[in-house]
Amino acid sequence: MEIKSDYLIIGTGIAGLSLALKAAQVGTVSIVTKKEMMEASTNYAQGGIASVLDPKDSFDLHIADTIESGAGLCNREVVRMVVTNGPDMIRELISLGVHFSHSKTQADRLDLTQEGGHSRRRIVHTEDLTGKEVERSLIQNAEKNKKIKIYENHMAIDLITTSKFIRRGISTNETRETCWGAYVLDINTGKVKTFLARITILATGGAGKVYLYTTNPDIATGDGVAIGYRAGAKVANMEFVQFHPTCLYHPMAKNFLISESVRGEEGRLIDKRGDHFMERYHPLKDLALRDIVARSIDTELKKSGDECIYLDISHRPKDFIKNRFPNIYKRCLELNIDITKEPIPVVPAAHYMCGGLLTDIHGRTNITNLYAIGEVACTGLHGANRLASNSLIEALVFAKSAFEDSAKIISDKGDYKFPPVPMWDTGSATDSDESVVVSHNWDEVRRLMWNYVGIVMTNKRLIRAKSRIEVIQQEIKEYYWDFIITSDLLELRNLATVAELIITSANMRKESRGLHYNLDYPERDDKNWLHDTVL
Ligand code: SIN
Repeated sequence: MEIKSDYLIIGTGIAGLSLALKAAQVGTVSIVTKKEMMEASTNYAQGGIASVLDPKDSFDLHIADTIESGAGLCNREVVRMVVTNGPDMIRELISLGVHFSHSKTQADRLDLTQEGGHSRRRIVHTEDLTGKEVERSLIQNAEKNKKIKIYENHMAIDLITTSKFIRRGISTNETRETCWGAYVLDINTGKVKTFLARITILATGGAGKVYLYTTNPDIATGDGVAIGYRAGAKVANMEFVQFHPTCLYHPMAKNFLISESVRGEEGRLIDKRGDHFMERYHPLKDLALRDIVARSIDTELKKSGDECIYLDISHRPKDFIKNRFPNIYKRCLELNIDITKEPIPVVPAAHYMCGGLLTDIHGRTNITNLYAIGEVACTGLHGANRLASNSLIEALVFAKSAFEDSAKIISDKGDYKFPPVPMWDTGSATDSDESVVVSHNWDEVRRLMWNYVGIVMTNKRLIRAKSRIEVIQQEIKEYYWDFIITSDLLELRNLATVAELIITSANMRKESRGLHYNLDYPERDDKNWLHDTVL
């Protein structure tokens, strides 16, 4: 089955949906998502969106904070573009119906909260459910739009690119490697559909599930990076994986984040004896940059042998806590933790992929007509360590930039005809009776990444990780060609590819910088490593 549209957007987070709403002004849009629309990482974003909205703040300060956090690897032009477009993006969201929290003292002003590494209060939020509110509104707008067709439970397998035509002996007039859409698995029927598009946008989010412990939802399996990489797109800076310092530590709590804004509102990290240990690690204490806080916690836990540390906000008034953090309050209470009275047990967990598909300032990859936006992309904004709450604003600004760039191609289409695309071929694949291979390898990848490629690495651990992942990759490859594909198998294949990209990049960088910390090279080395790692 062939489905044709001007745009194919893969992913329904803030990046994909906000681009879809713009793209629908100039063409037809197909959006595919492997679960329901709402199941995007955006939906779980608690903290908010960083933007300069306070008269006492300035673009220069936000730019300086972003660059400081990025530890020498930010692209200044990109940082300026994102920061200076920020306020317009917030106004655009408000015009789409997003309700942000307002100041309690000045009702006409948005409430701005604080997070680590920001020299001013500049985080726009909707209590502690910012992502959910943004998703709600974007989905509502997309569903109303007649130019947008949404395909839920559809998972992209691979991109359709020029070399696939050549391999099958089909000639096209296109000499450059160009993308014409993707082969997509309809998860409900098990059939593979061919989605043809003049512009393809990867907006699939991150890859937190590569690690055993993560704040990310189950969908975060690095699909976009793996799909793009297999098609020949360049990938950069995969070694910079951000660990969020405070993921709820409780056997019944799956992936539950305790927002950094809890520390922004005076929450303090303590150990089980009540020691406020961040005082010993950095002058900014609990609001030091994320890499520093996560590493300090890791050191404390290794030293003490404790299983977790604690985040305490119980000294703030009960009503303030309940109104400002209703979601965190409710979830913790369900687990018998009353955060107005007692500290919250927390541990660091994988949270955000600073690397991804390498793009230019318009979100263009090196494959013609293929764009990457949001967490899947490495745009140059985050460098070696993303500043808190800079991701949603990046997604919005790059959606705008990618739209403006791609719209030129669409409006100049004349009488466009797609080339004859080869259909998906299942070959001699049969149904598998050994799906244990998938679940076993899935578990092994996540454990080896957690144990060997975590907050603190060593050469020895990285070498171990490399040899293990090579074996797993080989096993997946054999299994992939023999058996009919399922979404679990596709996710495992993507997850293993992303794990391998992280390990390879981490092995290449012989220094410590930002989120990449190798005990065998503990110093930052600007002479040799002041550049991206490109694969
Ligand atoms: C948080 O609420 O702590 C997450 C914010 C972010 O990762 O930008």
